Amino acid sequence: MISIKNLTIFIEDKKILDNINLEINKGETFVILGESGAGKSVLLKTIVGLIKPTEGEIFIRQENLGQMNKNKLLELREKTGMVFQAAALFDSMTVCQNVGFFLFEHTNLSDEEIRERVKKSLHAVGLENILDEMPEHLSGGMKKRVGIARALINQPEIIFYDEPTAGLDPVTSASILELIEKIHKEYQTTDVIVTHDLEIARKFSDRVAIIDNGKIFTIGIWQEVVKIGHPIVSQEKNK
Ligand SMILES: Nc1ncnc2c1ncn2[C@@H]1O[C@H](COP(=O)(O)OP(=O)(O)OP(=O)(O)O)[C@@H](O)[C@H]1O
Ligand SMILES: [Mg+2]
Repeated sequence: MISIKNLTIFIEDKKILDNINLEINKGETFVILGESGAGKSVLLKTIVGLIKPTEGEIFIRQENLGQMNKNKLLELREKTGMVFQAAALFDSMTVCQNVGFFLFEHTNLSDEEIRERVKKSLHAVGLENILDEMPEHLSGGMKKRVGIARALINQPEIIFYDEPTAGLDPVTSASILELIEKIHKEYQTTDVIVTHDLEIARKFSDRVAIIDNGKIFTIGIWQEVVKIGHPIVSQEKNK
């Protein structure tokens, strides 16, 4: 589904990602762990085409991201959803405008049709009747859900979640995780989840990668990764 080959990223002379090689399979839940500043968000942004590789290539469904024209890129964006770290909603837009952003920008659907699609997406994340709310009036957990609803608007095949539970209380975290699992099952999405939360890796991952200082430290199923050992998973050894 996603194939990353010899990916290196420099930002302003600083090497952020160093020769990353990674295969993510269709339908799998792939969890990326790593300390703050390791390069996790940069990696996700690169896979969705928001950051250009300095070196290396990314293939999505066998197509080379670097060689896609505008239409192909748009098609790709339609098939992928990104849930950003810190929700990243546009504060000056309503929930409907946020969730329907792609449709307003890139389709000729009428406002009514878009509202209907947005309603469905919000329904899928357990939110109703907040289409005309402004993001500032929402709780942290609701913002996350709206961010997920926005990622779902085109029924994507691949969803990238950047820290889906960071900053949320345990109950809200658990409900977001339940939601991710429900979406995964219902839509058979391929999920790439960046997180600090070891429980997500333990409970949901098919495979895990640890990124350390811009490099892949290890990739494997959770039990193997714990065995290989890295400070980030050391507390798991006794579980
Ligand atoms: N736009 C940018 N300009 C300059 N440096 C950047 C930029 N984006 C990221 N970096 C740097 O790249 C490195 C990796 O950042 P990244 O956001 O990917 O970390 P992360 O692993 O997601 O961390 P966190 O867990 O805190 O979210 C950091 O050193 C960061 O300062
Ligand atoms: Mg990050």
